[in-house]
Amino acid sequence: MIVVPGPASHDLGFKIANLLGVKAVPVESKIFPDGESYVRFTESVKDRHVVIVQTTSPPQDTRLIQLFLMADAAHALGAKNITLVTPYFAYSRQDKSFIEGEAVSVKTIIDLLKAIGVKKLITVNPHSPKFLEKTGIKTMNLSAISLLAQYFKDKGLSGALAVAPGKRATVMAVEAERVLKGGCDCLKTKRDLVTGRVSVEAGKLDVKGRNVIVFDDIISTGGTMVEAVRILKNLGAKKVYVACVHALLIGNADKKILKSGAKKIVGTDTVPSPVSVVSVAPIIADALRRK
Ligand code: R5P
Repeated sequence: MIVVPGPASHDLGFKIANLLGVKAVPVESKIFPDGESYVRFTESVKDRHVVIVQTTSPPQDTRLIQLFLMADAAHALGAKNITLVTPYFAYSRQDKSFIEGEAVSVKTIIDLLKAIGVKKLITVNPHSPKFLEKTGIKTMNLSAISLLAQYFKDKGLSGALAVAPGKRATVMAVEAERVLKGGCDCLKTKRDLVTGRVSVEAGKLDVKGRNVIVFDDIISTGGTMVEAVRILKNLGAKKVYVACVHALLIGNADKKILKSGAKKIVGTDTVPSPVSVVSVAPIIADALRRK
């Protein structure tokens, strides 16, 4: 087995290779003046199990093209077996037509991966796990929530309340609760399908005087977390922390969240960012050992 860190996941690829005790051979890559991508394998992949590690956070279109180029070239160069590790799977929030006529982007990405012969995929907290499980590609959807919860536990926050900012994220709060053992609850979120603006309702949350950690899969613009933190502070929470797997942090999202009263933001290295202090390398290495 060799690990090929793509241009978007250089450090994570090396960490995974180190944990597995195998060689990491990053591709050579560049962007041409007109914006097109170039990749080149620098070592033979013939007859080898090639693990390509490439996240698809912004600029996601470029990251995806690089991923397609790497997977297709690995096939063409005679790799025996190819596993794609795509820690953040772009476009997976559009997993159906919410408004008539919309393209289902995650389906298109999957179809393209299948067309270039991808058969095995490892991803972390994808937004549409059910969709990815039914694609015909052998997919392992890992979760980094326990790692995030453990981070907070190690910082002395055992017993903190795990909160989901919306019903869909409840599964994450439940998972975090198993580590933190301080109970879990859920806020109600509603997103305007046209403007994308999120409104959050408190429901009957009892957070007075408690340390609270809000868990979500993605922080994009930060709108959801800003609302969640504001409500939890208004309800009398002592300290509010924010945890997410994929810290996209578009347009100063981290600053906005901290300004709204959050004590700290913690993310993982599925997407490299200033808050990505938890590494998903151990769970990916484990998954590759099991494959
Ligand atoms: C939505 O369903 C996701 O789980 C996140 O809550 C969302 O992507 C966060 O977006 P933003 O940071 O822009 O509110």
